[in-house]
Amino acid sequence: MIRRYDYGSPIFTHAIAIPQPVCTGDMPRFTVEKNGDAISFRVHMDEDDQIFGLGESVRGINKRGHRYRAWCSDDFSHTEDKASLYASHNLVLFSGKSGVFGLYVDDPGAVTFDLGYTRGDEAVITSENGNCSVYYIEADTLIGAVKEFRHIIGRSYLPPKWGLGYIQSRWGYTTEEDLREVAKNHRERHIPIDMLSMDIDYMEDFKDFTWDAKKFPDLKAMISDFKADNLRVVPIIDAGVKLCPGDPTYDEGVEKGYFVKKEDGSTFIGAVWPGKAVFPDFMRNDVRQWFGDKYHGMLEAGVEAFWNDMNEPAIFYSEEGLDDAYAKADELRGKNIGVYDYFDLKDAFTGMSNSMADYTRFYHDVDGQQVRHDKVHNLYGAMMTKAGAQGMKSFNPDKRHLLFSRASFIGAHRDGGVWQGDNFSWWSHILLNMRELAGMNMCGFLYTGADLGGFGQNTTEDLLQRWLQLGVFTPLMRNHAALGTRDQEIYRFSMQEDMKNILTVRYALLPYLYSEFMKCALTGSSMFRPLAFDYPQDPACLRIEDQLMLGGECMIAPVYEQNARGRNVYLPEDMLLVRFRSAEDYCLIPMEKGRHWIDLELNEMPLFIRKGCVIPMSRGGEWVGGVDFTDLTLLGWIDCASCYKLYNDDGFTTSPVLEEGLRTIRCKAEGGRADAAGEGLRLDAAKVIVG
Ligand code: GLC
Repeated sequence: MIRRYDYGSPIFTHAIAIPQPVCTGDMPRFTVEKNGDAISFRVHMDEDDQIFGLGESVRGINKRGHRYRAWCSDDFSHTEDKASLYASHNLVLFSGKSGVFGLYVDDPGAVTFDLGYTRGDEAVITSENGNCSVYYIEADTLIGAVKEFRHIIGRSYLPPKWGLGYIQSRWGYTTEEDLREVAKNHRERHIPIDMLSMDIDYMEDFKDFTWDAKKFPDLKAMISDFKADNLRVVPIIDAGVKLCPGDPTYDEGVEKGYFVKKEDGSTFIGAVWPGKAVFPDFMRNDVRQWFGDKYHGMLEAGVEAFWNDMNEPAIFYSEEGLDDAYAKADELRGKNIGVYDYFDLKDAFTGMSNSMADYTRFYHDVDGQQVRHDKVHNLYGAMMTKAGAQGMKSFNPDKRHLLFSRASFIGAHRDGGVWQGDNFSWWSHILLNMRELAGMNMCGFLYTGADLGGFGQNTTEDLLQRWLQLGVFTPLMRNHAALGTRDQEIYRFSMQEDMKNILTVRYALLPYLYSEFMKCALTGSSMFRPLAFDYPQDPACLRIEDQLMLGGECMIAPVYEQNARGRNVYLPEDMLLVRFRSAEDYCLIPMEKGRHWIDLELNEMPLFIRKGCVIPMSRGGEWVGGVDFTDLTLLGWIDCASCYKLYNDDGFTTSPVLEEGLRTIRCKAEGGRADAAGEGLRLDAAKVIVG
């Protein structure tokens, strides 16, 4: 059951795809309190109540015990103290003695979620502007609550099948030679790969929709050579447009009045990579249309994928902010600066980036009304994604597009994927990556993943190796690193053979991963789920923070600690452990429900398959198009019979029909051996354990 309640004057956010009628009367369970402009929703919590949701955010899968703030933030330091990351995913679900219920707060401004932080027994959710539609959700189960919510927010974005391939990326591939070198090193060593990202280095002076002709003299030829080698490039597009008379994007935007303006009607200027920049008013449909059409130039050159960045929007400084900081410095120049002046001076410069002062300096045109940016801040990235998606769709309406973004708001899950931003090469960020998968799936973001190996700081080979072992399962699988950090491509390391072997597992599992992804996207369910969702009656499952259910048949439990040679795992039922070294080298170990220590050398990764289930595995390939989705080996542990619903399609159709893509694989045990059949499939059941 979902009920909508409106407060103040809600702004349309595009989050809800199926409009709900507005209810009058009191909201169940929550008390509603006005405090100035703000409006709060307060609920008492039992000692054992748990809270799930909030998509991309720090800390645990169970969000209880911290205060979060929905405020899309360009913050590369994803530490526990942070209240905000790049996304605003305003869904919380409570589960405990009194059942399953929750709220979705549809508000593009700041919303705080005090989840047992101020008082351990209370959750208080506050819309700071007090203009919001709040959706009260109640269901019998957490899975049911997510399903109902996902139904009203609409179908998740579907990437093309090749979007599930491995992406090698780096901020710092500055020339065509750099990219060709990376491609060659992968192909020569038979390291599977489908895409190469192009970071801001490819642009001419960091201008959107340009490329530096000195460094990339013939983009078209490069792309077509890559294509012949089954590789695609993924260029970045930034939200800020360089202030540059003579640049067509800038000139057109100025002429048509497409950039956000200050109260006095002058264009707002903020600095990002190109120095001074201006910001398209993505809240306007005509601006989205215009910006989206700008993608066509590169699409015409053969590009088929993009990533949208800096769209919180990130603003390093504005002219006003810089002036204030200089004024502070001038004021203190020559003085003996004491502690508080020192703090002020420091803050004047460090606080200049992404500042509230700047976010209140400019306005958007929302359906003819001038709305100050901070009131709709959290929508900016989502609306840029919408622009990109519209542009890609209009260029090629018959095929799915590949697009992922850094900032997001629910609603953007229909237009593209999301990567988890600028993490660090820290072991704790493997765990964060995994936990975020659970929350993001609840909010509809299925095509997601983190920078494998870590973006900031220098990675180590054991860290990359363990991270890849989680990345094998994330739909968006990208190794990306920051400028100036240590080389992070697989072939740079002495363990490259082991890393390559782990990647072969990804490509071998593609029929299963694609099938589960598509089934979840088309039915509005989650590909990754906390164990508490699937086993609500098992107390041991309720607080597991480092394992996730994957699809209908599997569970993952990655190793995320340095120098570990295994880990503790809780099996909620009998499961088959598949200990992979590569797609060809793995062992199958039937295990009983309960707690276990699992040995896992650095080159070994675990996958658990529920007893009674079988999953398909291909013979692998070095790119997605090279994987045969019909020649399959089954893995599993069954007593007598099992079946698997395999989904497959051409990989690009924009309106896939679930039933049309489903084929049933039937597996039967006879005389201690398993046998399998499925229409149009070659199946090998020799690896299915019987008994
Ligand atoms: C941002 C992005 C990062 C990218 C960098 C340069 O920090 O999050 O992925 O490499 O900008 O474009």
